[in-house]
Amino acid sequence: MGGESFTEEQEALVVKSWNVMKKNAGEWGLKFFIKIFEIAPSAQKLFSFLKDSNVPLEQNPKLKPHAKSVFVMTCEAAVQLRKAGKVVIRDSSLKKIGGVHFKYGVVDEHFEVTKYALLETIKEAAGEMWSAEMKNAWSVAYDQLVAAIKTEMKP
Ligand code: HEM
Repeated sequence: MGGESFTEEQEALVVKSWNVMKKNAGEWGLKFFIKIFEIAPSAQKLFSFLKDSNVPLEQNPKLKPHAKSVFVMTCEAAVQLRKAGKVVIRDSSLKKIGGVHFKYGVVDEHFEVTKYALLETIKEAAGEMWSAEMKNAWSVAYDQLVAAIKTEMKP
């Protein structure tokens, strides 16, 4: 964490904005992933359920749950960063998540684009609540979460 700790204020900014979004988590999740695929169309091919599907992206029932996982796990990462100073994920599930992303060929650029789309989506959802501090809090939580996932991205 570069010596700086995640504050209660930062945690509150993340939790507060997620609480606004979660009522419409499916919609925001869809917007989030549509942004990702606009910037990086090839990322669609990583998802088995998109590659082999003939229903339109917006109607694919499996897309929203992944988007929601990214929101929820980033929000949880913020809580843990404040409480424990680091991201804590149960060993077995971190191994599983790392392994799945490795197996499906997710690379650094995907995590970068996803970060950008995540922040843009939250900005839109947060409206007047949005601030540089809120952006920074989500960024730090996301970066730390991704760093944790990457430690387990191996076969
Ligand atoms: C699967 C979370 C970022 C692509 C998953 C799963 C979770 C998850 C919980 C399900 C694992 C399982 O099967 O048990 C996250 C989190 C992320 C993240 C928390 C960032 C913080 C990304 C990014 C991409 C990606 C950036 C690519 C653009 C995938 C793919 C799968 C997957 C392709 C497998 C889907 C399938 O079954 O076809 N992710 N993910 N994820 N994720 Fe992510």
